[in-house]
Amino acid sequence: MKSVIVLSIVGLLLSSGASVADDELYKTKNCFACHRIDKNHLGPSFESIAAKYADDKGADSKLAQKIRGGSAGVWGPTPMPAQTQVTEAEALTLARWILEIK
Ligand code: HEC
Repeated sequence: MKSVIVLSIVGLLLSSGASVADDELYKTKNCFACHRIDKNHLGPSFESIAAKYADDKGADSKLAQKIRGGSAGVWGPTPMPAQTQVTEAEALTLARWILEIK
C-alpha cells in the first residue's frame, strides 16, 4: 500500500516538473516583483499576455527579446525596464512558459 502512494507522488512530481521549474524562474528572476499570473500588478498579468499573443506564431522569440530589452507603450503608461539578469535562453523559456498559460 505504501509503495502505491510513493509511486503516485513520484508520478505527480514528474508530470508537473517542467512548469514548476519555469515558475521558479519567474520568482527567482524578479518578474514576480511586477507580474502575477492571473491578475495585473505593476505589469500586465501573464494570462492576458498569453491571450494577446495566442495567434502570433513568432511571439516566443519576440517576447524573449522584450524581456531582455524592456518594453514600453504596449500595455499602458508604465514601461518595463530591461531584464538583463536573465540569459537569452532563460528569456525564451520564460516567454514560452508565459504563452502556455491559459
Ligand atoms: C519593474 C517592473 C517589471 C519587472 C521586474 C518585470 N516586468 Fe514585465 N512588464 C512590466 C510592465 C510595466 C509591462 C508593460 C510594458 C508595456 O506596456 O510595453 C511588462 C510587460 C511584459 C511582457 C509583455 C511585453 C509585450 O510586448 O507585450 C512580458 C512578456 C513580460 N513583461 C515578462 C516579464 C518577465 C519574464 C520578467 C522577469 C524576467 C518581467 N517581465 C519583469 C513590468 C515589469
